Amino acid sequence: MTTDAVRWHDHALELLDQRALPNQVIHLRYDSAEGVARAIRDLVVRGAPAIGCAAAYGMALAGAAPGATAATLRAAHDVLAASRPTAVNLFWALDRQRRLWEHATPDAALAQTLLAEAHAVLREDLAMNHAIGGHGAGLIPDGARVLTHCNAGALATAGHGTALGVIRSALHAGRKLTVTACETRPVLQGARLTVWELMQDGIPVTLIPDNAAAHLMSRGEIDLVIVGADRIARNGDTANKIGTYMHAVCAARHGIPFYVAAPSSTIDLTLADGSGIPIEERAAAEVTGYGSERWAPAGARVRNPAFDVTPAELITAIITERGVASAPFQSTLERWFL
Ligand code: MRU
Repeated sequence: MTTDAVRWHDHALELLDQRALPNQVIHLRYDSAEGVARAIRDLVVRGAPAIGCAAAYGMALAGAAPGATAATLRAAHDVLAASRPTAVNLFWALDRQRRLWEHATPDAALAQTLLAEAHAVLREDLAMNHAIGGHGAGLIPDGARVLTHCNAGALATAGHGTALGVIRSALHAGRKLTVTACETRPVLQGARLTVWELMQDGIPVTLIPDNAAAHLMSRGEIDLVIVGADRIARNGDTANKIGTYMHAVCAARHGIPFYVAAPSSTIDLTLADGSGIPIEERAAAEVTGYGSERWAPAGARVRNPAFDVTPAELITAIITERGVASAPFQSTLERWFL
């Protein structure tokens, strides 16, 4: 997969415009933190690790802006932090940058330091995803029929992916498998992004409507579920794309393993459990139609929570770059990441 979601090129940040996929493959260029914040909010770039990488570059752009001051860096940090609330990787990346700029004088050297840190965030994310893939591959039996939700692939990360990274690594290890991709209403990250990404790599994938998942599970057509994460609390409760929780409930009902794959940048040990995870509510227009098409009556009352929380008790294992944690998660997550 050669299409980078996030890349630095010729003094600017280039983001693959994921709103245009799969119909168009275009990169947009950004030269300011404000532009990067807008791109995150508008889903040009999405997926927890990719959002973190983009935010790190947003701070690098703020550091390199002519006339940068402590106040402009603070403003850049704040606008990026306000772009989306749920994926903790955004705040993790901003914190890494803040430790560098907070007590420094904005100058050319600081700009170089912030850019080097952004490159490190990107490089480390790719390495973590390969490690996650290596640990997770052992959980995928030969011939497995794997269900995934949303897009936790190369498009959502610096490359390789988390949930899709495990699938890629299992294939590289010689296992045969097939993927069932849920379309992921309302923004269709599954239909538009996961199916496209897997087809690019020649990985067998079948698209289903979200509400077909329980039926396939009940017919014995799904062997395991693997998803990514936007924030994992200390006890293992996991926020991921809306709809993930219903797949976990259905998987438990049918005795199907349910795996979460995520790097340490997704783990929020400050939260005791998932009840404290902020859940983003997005625009009604994402639910009442798509693009220029409207199918709900004008004025319809709408709820559009973009994420839900899967309780730890429904999760078979959490796969990180450190290894595979099984329940109870808290002691393992604390041992690895505190
Ligand atoms: O709204 P999105 O597309 O940013 O939501 C993305 C997800 O929920 C992903 O599953 C999650 O960020 C993990 S990506 C490796």
